[in-house]
Amino acid sequence: KRKIAVLTSGGDSAGMNAAVRAVVRAGIARGCDVFAVYEGYQGLVDGGNLIKKMSWNDVRGFLEVGGTSIGTARCMPFKQRPGRLQAAEHLVSRGIDSIVVCGGDGSLTGADVFRSEWPGLLDELLANKRITEEQHKSHRYLTIVGLVGSIDNDMSSTDITIGAYTSLARICESVDSIASTAISHSRAFVVEVMGRHCGWLALMAAISTGADFVFLPEKPPSDDDWQTAMCDRLTRRRALGKRNTLVIVAEGALDKNLNPIKPEQIKDILSDRMGLDTRVTTLGHVQRGGSPVAYDRYLATVQGVEAVEAVLRATPETPSPMIGMSQNKVTWRPLMKAVELTHAVATAIGNKDFEKATELRDSEFKL
Ligand code: F6P
Repeated sequence: KRKIAVLTSGGDSAGMNAAVRAVVRAGIARGCDVFAVYEGYQGLVDGGNLIKKMSWNDVRGFLEVGGTSIGTARCMPFKQRPGRLQAAEHLVSRGIDSIVVCGGDGSLTGADVFRSEWPGLLDELLANKRITEEQHKSHRYLTIVGLVGSIDNDMSSTDITIGAYTSLARICESVDSIASTAISHSRAFVVEVMGRHCGWLALMAAISTGADFVFLPEKPPSDDDWQTAMCDRLTRRRALGKRNTLVIVAEGALDKNLNPIKPEQIKDILSDRMGLDTRVTTLGHVQRGGSPVAYDRYLATVQGVEAVEAVLRATPETPSPMIGMSQNKVTWRPLMKAVELTHAVATAIGNKDFEKATELRDSEFKL
């Protein structure tokens, strides 16, 4: 009988609960025992009642709840080998042979490192008499399956990550609310949105709310005098009778000289050059929380079911799969390839080599 652990790791995102529910229920339906690991990798390291066998009813009501009800953490001890050794001991003592991890690229890398140390960790546990010969023999392989939970939609090899559409919806709702004041007072608003190094949320939000200007990490403004170009555009729009002005700034946005650009700078430009009554709104964690939109519930559910399928079909030779979505179809891609590509894109952006970043991003779509 397969014994599967499911955990959520890194920043929470809406739909993680739906993923846990799907893994628990699909696992039980396929005859497996399923364990939830509470508090992310910290739960694996600490063990005890942080690793709990789940029943069908334990995940009732999970679909519509935001965040992750089994907790998450950015866990330092799991980054060190002694922490991973302890985690291995806790898994083996419960007979767990596979882990489904729902998290961002950092969390998924951690899972694959853990697998790559297997069965070395087991040998060490046996040598230290922390597990028996029998446990050592019956746990030769560890299966890891990745689900991508992140609001940033910054993972390569998948079109979309669990939580991104909910976050986008929350940003749109917030901007719509801000528009009431903006239109009433004829004000300008500069809204900062999350996304770490990825401009997906900012770009999608700008299109969806009809923003006047957007600043992204991947595509700094091209005009030499971008301040004047921006003001000219905003002035033209005002001249057409628009009473509100909206500028969206991604948290990792860059200016023409590739320096970080902050909402306060934009506010000063709009106030000083255009005489606009301007306010800054940083949406912060409002955009990460709340009930998942239907798409994230659906995405997490079909991918969670697929993750169980991947556990059941995995062989010791197959690389750990990451469950993704491509052209509306659920996909399995080698986890580490996806992580490597994600890091290569981030490095290219960090080096301000935007052409390279685009080329790398597109490479996976060239069949
Ligand atoms: O990765 C998700 C994210 O919300 C990013 O958009 C943001 O940069 C970061 O996490 C914030 O992290 P924290 O909640 O730890 O401050």
